[in-house]
Amino acid sequence: MSLVHEIDYGTPRVDSATTVTLTIDGRAVTVPEGTSVMRAAMEMGTEIPKLCSTDMLESFGSCRLCLVEIEGRNGTPSSCTTPVTEGMAVRTQTDRLKRLRRGVMELYISDHPLDCLTCAANGDCELQTQAGAVGLRDVRYGYDNKHPAPPKDESNPYFTYDPEKCIVCSRCVRACEEVQGTFALTIAGRGFGSVVSAGMAEEFLASECVSCGACVQACPTATLTEKSVIDIGQPEHSVVTTCAYCGVGCAFKAEMRGDEVVRMVPFKDGKANRGHSCVKGRFAWGYTNHGDRILNPMIRERISDPWREVSWDEAIGRVASEFKRIQGAYGRGAIGGITSSRCTNEETFLVQKLVRAGFGNNNVDTCARVCHSPTGYGLKTTFGTSAGTQDFDSVEHTDVVVVIGANPTDGHPVFASRMKKRLRDGAKLIVVDPRRIDLVRMPHVEADYHLALKPGTNVAVLDAMAHVIVTEGLFDEAFVHERCDWDEFQEWAAFVADPRNSPEEVEKVCGVPAETIRGAARLYATGGNAAIYYGLGVTEHSQGSTTVMAVANLAMATGNIGRPGVGVNPLRGQNNVQGACDMGSFPHELPGYRHISEDATRTIFESLWGAPLDREPGLRIPNMLDAAVEGSFRGLYIQGEDILQSDPNTHHVAAGLAAMECVVVQDLFLNETANYAHIFLPGSTFLEKDGTFTNAERRIQPVRKVMESRSGMEDWQITMAIANAMGFPMTYDHPSEIMDEVAALTPSFAGVSFDKLDRLGSIQWPCDEAAPEGTPVMHIDGFVRGKGRFVITEYIPTDERTGPRFPLLLTTGRILSQYNVGAQTRRTANAAWHQEDRLEIHPNDAEQRGIVEGDWVKLASRTGETTLRATLTERVAPGVVYTTFHHPDTQANVVTTEFSDWATNCPEYKVTAVQVAPSNGPSDWQREYEAQARASRRIAPVAEPAE
Ligand code: SF4
Ligand code: SF4
Ligand code: SF4
Ligand code: FES
Repeated sequence: MSLVHEIDYGTPRVDSATTVTLTIDGRAVTVPEGTSVMRAAMEMGTEIPKLCSTDMLESFGSCRLCLVEIEGRNGTPSSCTTPVTEGMAVRTQTDRLKRLRRGVMELYISDHPLDCLTCAANGDCELQTQAGAVGLRDVRYGYDNKHPAPPKDESNPYFTYDPEKCIVCSRCVRACEEVQGTFALTIAGRGFGSVVSAGMAEEFLASECVSCGACVQACPTATLTEKSVIDIGQPEHSVVTTCAYCGVGCAFKAEMRGDEVVRMVPFKDGKANRGHSCVKGRFAWGYTNHGDRILNPMIRERISDPWREVSWDEAIGRVASEFKRIQGAYGRGAIGGITSSRCTNEETFLVQKLVRAGFGNNNVDTCARVCHSPTGYGLKTTFGTSAGTQDFDSVEHTDVVVVIGANPTDGHPVFASRMKKRLRDGAKLIVVDPRRIDLVRMPHVEADYHLALKPGTNVAVLDAMAHVIVTEGLFDEAFVHERCDWDEFQEWAAFVADPRNSPEEVEKVCGVPAETIRGAARLYATGGNAAIYYGLGVTEHSQGSTTVMAVANLAMATGNIGRPGVGVNPLRGQNNVQGACDMGSFPHELPGYRHISEDATRTIFESLWGAPLDREPGLRIPNMLDAAVEGSFRGLYIQGEDILQSDPNTHHVAAGLAAMECVVVQDLFLNETANYAHIFLPGSTFLEKDGTFTNAERRIQPVRKVMESRSGMEDWQITMAIANAMGFPMTYDHPSEIMDEVAALTPSFAGVSFDKLDRLGSIQWPCDEAAPEGTPVMHIDGFVRGKGRFVITEYIPTDERTGPRFPLLLTTGRILSQYNVGAQTRRTANAAWHQEDRLEIHPNDAEQRGIVEGDWVKLASRTGETTLRATLTERVAPGVVYTTFHHPDTQANVVTTEFSDWATNCPEYKVTAVQVAPSNGPSDWQREYEAQARASRRIAPVAEPAE
């Protein structure tokens, strides 16, 4: 296997319908108008030497190595900055050009240390390659280190900056600006004294740098180099796979040396990320080899016992015998399973199949329950499909970006970079969020409107925007007439037009000035292509499903559906939230969102699976926990999910788990839920298995095994073994066969196969006969459900109210460097950026309580309390506090309540009434919890074999 080679065409691809024909070294070539001469040459296979240009960046024209001759023009223009013209005749290889290029290269080399043999970039250095390409053999001016460079900067945990090797090509600076949009780098100084500088001449770690690595990737020399390359050496082969962190779904080349990952390089052909990445995907893969990984199956009788390592056969046998015993004693419905949005589609499909056909009930649920289940409900009700409407490319055609309840620069950073680029290019921005998220104001991006609403009032604000659109006649009547149910629209229009939904009335509820709401509504309705991007700040509310439908109403009313640049786009948190939902993880839905009570659908599954299916929906996670406490639910198989840490009201989750007789946890680490487990089955990382993930764009992408599973069993094999041990046969040899079964059973996946994924790289469902290569934009000619459905979205305040005891509102979220419950990222050097969860509190609220920066504070709600340290910031409004939930010792969910979305039970994480008070440090229960967790993780020493 060799390194996957991606050609660098020197300058970005140009999309133009008009073409131009020219000749290069006597050969004719036709390219889109606006293409550079360099790119035209590269596309026909003629390489032009270059240093300062790359196809990820706009051309800059500083190095003068790419000179060409053009008939009829004086001089030797740089090919990277010269656009093609019709009939142009270009020469790339004359003696004069060769001489000039050698001269340029000689100057570069004369100021560069000649330690190629011991340089980490040896063999992967463009300066070295281009010196060879121009035929440089002698350097008349020897390197004498006349211009000593500043010292190396090794502050970043993942890459080094060695100024001595810098050729001041500025590619890093431009990558930070154009690709990442952070503007952390500048070229400081002049002439030979020019150096790249992070921030105000700070170290990288202390600067604004977010460690995305775009500069490292762009650097043509060893100046910016991954520390892993310095430690391990140059990679020998690579495999294209998909990031296992967030729902952006970035494609990477896993570059390997033997079976060791050297680095992850964002794949330029990845349609979700277009060659970019964030700090997690590019750098935070070290957890794969972390010492905490559990690699052998383990069992124990009681959760107070130490774990005992056993063989796979014994562990699987124990799962099967315990589950059968429980079903014999308590009934078929006494056990269930939980699928994970971190696992592959194939693994998730198998778990729900095991539950439905092997356990004989529908007690299967997924962690998507606690994040995007309202998206499924809301978009299915209004549009007919439980998924976002666009691809990420769509944002390039957007004139008005609306971000509601999402923080893309932290949660979906690579998509945020694409969004920021569009905003820098002129699109308008509306942010609806209680916090002043980075997008509200950052270098070269500023929101036109920030609706800093009180948590829990999304529906009121969206209804008020609709009020403005309807009462001011800003809706798209032609679109609504043609595409939607007109009677339902009229009912909805009358509802939103009611004075109680006016911005002036809603201001009293949400705290956003009426004029701000009016301005945002007018901009959304009249600003051109308008696209809504939303996150868990929309869904994780008691009115989560209502909010999703209110968003859909706005898009339909203004005709912002069914073409590039518009749409309704849920930004999915975990890598495979979309896929977990698609694969039938909810208790009431079979794969493809078909209700379990539909006889015809069940028959299709029953005949292929050879087992009868229950027509009644099974238990959701909260119902399983309730039933466990009541005594009717006794066994649970949890694949890749840490419900103790991620689900609300931790004490209740713990009580439910503790009440069960057999909890089986399949994961990489002994997570918090495993403290209550009886059987532990070691899982595999995304690097150790084949399969697919589906990102927020409905894009199914391949996950490819780059190393053998360290535990000896891939996750799909474990589920298969449990099924077989329970007497329900499964006989797959490879995940591709599982996907073939998904395709055979699920109309929207009918055309999907691993072979096609290999050929196309990725596929956006629906993929069927009508759309054999997938569907980038949905609802183009009509809604999937037929007519778009307007739903009345009455604002009903949450029952969670502030009062004298709990006067503040807590809302939660995540941070760029960490991922969800932190199981993976806490076990990487990402800890350098975020070692603990902190409570953000407005300085006024802090002052009233005698709290100063960094103080320990007690955060209490009516369900529980925890302790963490305070950060004083005006990012949150007075009356609102905010924290992340990445660290188990904080257990932020101890304080969240059991309130949930009326339609889907998605927990109301985003609104909890709390009080904050000074504290001396971690509370008693936190200390007790930590001691108990430590005890629960004990593993009995393996007995020495007898002589
Ligand atoms: S790592 Fe990313 S954010 Fe940091 S300087 Fe480089 S390009 Fe900019
Ligand atoms: S650090 Fe690398 S990319 Fe940046 S100017 Fe120097 S050589 Fe060019
Ligand atoms: S944006 Fe998401 S998918 Fe992309 S590299 Fe970062 S974590 Fe991975
Ligand atoms: S590559 Fe064209 S001027 Fe540097």
